[in-house]
Amino acid sequence: MLPDRISPITITDIPIGPELAIVVPTFNESGNVEELVARLCGALQGLAFEIIVVDDDSPDGTAEAVRRIGAGDMRVRCLQRVGRRGLSGAVIEGMLASTAPVVAVIDGDLQHDETLLPQMYAELRRDDLDLVVASRYVSGGSVGDWSDARHQGSKLATRLARRLTGVTLHDPMSGFFMLRSDALRARARGLSGVGYKLLLDILATPGPALSFRELPYRFQARQQGESKLDTKVLLEYIELLLAKTVGRYVPVKFVMFSLVGALGLLVHMAVLGILFKKTGVGFSTAQTIATLVAMTANFFVNNIFTYFDRRLRGWKLLPGWLSFCAASSVGALANVGVAVYLFQSFETVWYLSALAGVIVGATWNYAVTALYTWK
Ligand code: GDD
Ligand code: MN
Repeated sequence: MLPDRISPITITDIPIGPELAIVVPTFNESGNVEELVARLCGALQGLAFEIIVVDDDSPDGTAEAVRRIGAGDMRVRCLQRVGRRGLSGAVIEGMLASTAPVVAVIDGDLQHDETLLPQMYAELRRDDLDLVVASRYVSGGSVGDWSDARHQGSKLATRLARRLTGVTLHDPMSGFFMLRSDALRARARGLSGVGYKLLLDILATPGPALSFRELPYRFQARQQGESKLDTKVLLEYIELLLAKTVGRYVPVKFVMFSLVGALGLLVHMAVLGILFKKTGVGFSTAQTIATLVAMTANFFVNNIFTYFDRRLRGWKLLPGWLSFCAASSVGALANVGVAVYLFQSFETVWYLSALAGVIVGATWNYAVTALYTWK
């Protein structure tokens, strides 16, 4: 039973929902959110819009700053995620949280040109498009004053993405775009959600074909706070590309793990060759040392590459290394066992026997270390 003071709402008092939602991912952007919201409200005048800031519990109090703004403006709210990090994941959740039929994403650091939003919306509606992307790489757009290294890196990543996923956009790496909510929902369960590149993720996820257009804009320099793009973001990008290509057939981590394994084989051969051929150490000693070196190298490379997202540090490296070596030893036995069995009992050709052994050994190593070393 409601208290008397509150009069029941009649249906005519309820305003209609927003036609456009702007999702803003933030991590430590307290110095930017007020200005951004003011600019968005200015740019979107006349539209029924809402702004959803998705903050990953920034230590600088971004979420609190957004709630203060929201307390005075119903169109603004904060989705605060605790204990989680990740740009793409944040944006997906923000977009799914809205009832608006059209959703957009824009960075929270004022680097994207918000005055482009009305045009993006108008063209999407008028021409019945599924997706409109603000692009740095169509005529009229630019990256502004990026360092040469970052510019080259971005171009390389773009070429790689286009080649591997068959995406035809000029700027599939853009972090500034607008799409129909139903197009997103249709793909939501297929998204990988890791890393920075949600647009590429959406484009490379199977679903109904998307009609799109790119509009040029100039990427602005950051005034407040700092970029969160680091090596982790780079590794997440590699993981996303793998997920969208070979990931349809085998787990991505397994692919990364196997790449490292191939590298380990080279390490093994190099160490063995040097010890046995150049220093006169006996074969069995050389082979034992080479095995240990290769296993150790594999452990550390997997720790920084394959499992960058759950990297072991400090004293945890010791049990990690031990469990890795134990698992690999059993894996090696299984490898040899299977290969010899196939070769001797079924007269399978030597290389197929060997290949089967390697696959069994690698799968075993991957499964066991995923369970015990990097749980
Ligand atoms: N919620 C959340 N969680 N937000 C994040 C996280 C996170 O883990 N990491 C970064 N952000 C927010 C930042 O606060 C900022 O608002 C926005 O995401 C972009 O992050 P930056 O670190 O500033 O990225 P950038 O400027 O180097 O690159 C951006 O622009 C490129 C060009 O459009 C990104 O949007 C790239 O994806 C994009 O390619
Ligand atoms: Mn930025």
